[in-house]
Amino acid sequence: MIEHQSTPRWTAVENFLTEVVVRPDSSLDRAVTSALEAGMPPIEVAPNAGKLLKLLVRLSGSRRVLEIGTLAGFSTIWMAQGLPDDGQLVTCEYLPRHAEVARANVDAAGLGAKVEVRVGAALDTLQALENEGAAPFDFIFIDADKENNAHYLDWAIRLGRPGTTVVMDNVVWEGALLDADLDPENAPGIISAVTLMGEDPRLDGTVIQTVGSKGWDGFALALVR
Ligand code: SAH
Ligand code: DHB
Ligand code: MG
Repeated sequence: MIEHQSTPRWTAVENFLTEVVVRPDSSLDRAVTSALEAGMPPIEVAPNAGKLLKLLVRLSGSRRVLEIGTLAGFSTIWMAQGLPDDGQLVTCEYLPRHAEVARANVDAAGLGAKVEVRVGAALDTLQALENEGAAPFDFIFIDADKENNAHYLDWAIRLGRPGTTVVMDNVVWEGALLDADLDPENAPGIISAVTLMGEDPRLDGTVIQTVGSKGWDGFALALVR
């Protein structure tokens, strides 16, 4: 007989794994609570996904990371923790209030010198980075407004180099990947980005489905050829 559970079993498993294996430090816990206190939506990546981002940054030997969609800086802190001492991370956030909370969290994590939070619509910030002749990014995490996902993927190629790692969050979106009617606002951007990832000869990618505290979703991982 299965006992009544107030949370799905996969969330209980995620919580167990977070405690036993992932082990986020106090600066990461603070990033989550500060976001709740500030009334921001709880849409940061799950801790096991954040840890994966950190490990991917480290495994790829990345020195320059670009993030699109900062929120309170939870994924930012994870990725910055994977960088070497002289590493750099630029993160793009549309809402000044989110950027402010993230800035404080990144500073409190002792990562202030590595991280630049740029406020504005990411498409403008990406264009500005190109205009400034920014050095190529080694690792790019796309996690903002889903409508622009295909544009962000194109920018990732432009601001990356052959060998750049690209990760895109939320590409399964409770199954809306196969049924845009489930979310007419966000699904089309997710579908075009995943289609582009498969078709564009400059990218070599895959998608991993996930379940847990963030529901049924998935992330795409691609290499710029
Ligand atoms: N990566 C974060 C979560 C990001 S949530 C984490 O895992 O911790 C998505 C964020 O993208 C929100 O803060 C939202 O304000 C921001 N955003 C939405 N549209 C944007 C745009 N056009 N440009 C930049 N940021 C945007
Ligand atoms: C949501 C989740 C995300 O991971 C994100 O980047 C944006 C929104 C959501 O569940 O609404
Ligand atoms: Mg996300």
